[in-house]
Amino acid sequence: MNSTYILGIESSCDDTSAAVLKDRTLLSNVIASQKIHEAYGGVVPELASRAHEQNIVPVVDQALKQAGINKKDLSAIAFTLGPGLMGSLLVGTSFAKGLALSLRLPLIQVNHLHGHILAHFIRVEGKEKTEPRFPFICLLVSGGNSQLVLVHSVKEMEIIGQTIDDAAGEAFDKCGKMLGLDYPAGPQIDRLAAIGDPVSFRFSKPQIPGFDYSFSGLKTSFLYRLRDEMATNGDFIRERKADLSASLQATIVDILMDKLIKASKEYKIKEIALSGGVSANSGLRKAVEETALKKGWTIHLPALSFTTDNAAMIAVAGYYKYLEQDFCGLDAAPYSRVSI
Ligand code: KG4
Repeated sequence: MNSTYILGIESSCDDTSAAVLKDRTLLSNVIASQKIHEAYGGVVPELASRAHEQNIVPVVDQALKQAGINKKDLSAIAFTLGPGLMGSLLVGTSFAKGLALSLRLPLIQVNHLHGHILAHFIRVEGKEKTEPRFPFICLLVSGGNSQLVLVHSVKEMEIIGQTIDDAAGEAFDKCGKMLGLDYPAGPQIDRLAAIGDPVSFRFSKPQIPGFDYSFSGLKTSFLYRLRDEMATNGDFIRERKADLSASLQATIVDILMDKLIKASKEYKIKEIALSGGVSANSGLRKAVEETALKKGWTIHLPALSFTTDNAAMIAVAGYYKYLEQDFCGLDAAPYSRVSI
């Protein structure tokens, strides 16, 4: 069989990305992150759409150049259909359609969440690793989602638990904002946590039945603690930033791990994967590694470059759909909310 070349396009939030895969092997993965949102403490949807519009042509051009292929060599174009910000999704969708039409290529719509999970199946030359075996449980944790997914195959995925309010990444970002950190605060909290004491503060943990998550109570508990301490010591946050970060991170990791361990036990599955932006967190990675040793899990931690939003994951999900000739029409339209 001839090789397939899939161009993936991702524009669901604040990263404009394009990637080229030869079958499942990565040829390029270009990401333009939008710095403009840092000043606002969160993603401003209108500014994100505008930045995507500015970035999309050079990013796709760069992805093709780095891959060393001509656009005429492409087999198909895969794009993110959702979930995400509508204005952002529209830029990637419309661009993908226009390019597919002009090159007479099939078009493939990809669920962003499938992309995060299937990122484990991207092959990188010189960095061979074992891939998850089906069925496996994937803890998908990002700025917009916190889900436990039972992955039966590349196309059959079942959500067994999810957040009923904020996502884990939102908890990192919003609590980080209270500490005066720039958006996104997750990576900075991770760095501060490395030099702080994780048991110096206790924050509330949710008591939710089943495999669902909740992070809004933790956010409130964090806020009240800061408010109370700042009332007597105006320098409290500055003096204790590392300890606060370490304690916050430890609490978020505990909440995530409790349900992951419970799900593994209940479904009798020891093949465990992490996906999404928060899967870059060193505290979470360490907790998963330690639990794996105790429980005999086989774990799959994504390369850091595939944790946050990227188009390589969209391209690999597109590749599997390409094999099934699962194409969409030019009337495909994005969805801001779409489940797995
Ligand atoms: O997957 P992603 O790029 O975007 C969404 O689809 O939401 O995830 C972004 C999220 C942000 O909330 C960011 O703070 C968080 O991932 N994040 C981290 C780390 N790196 C990124 N959170 C904790 N620790 C990290 N090292």
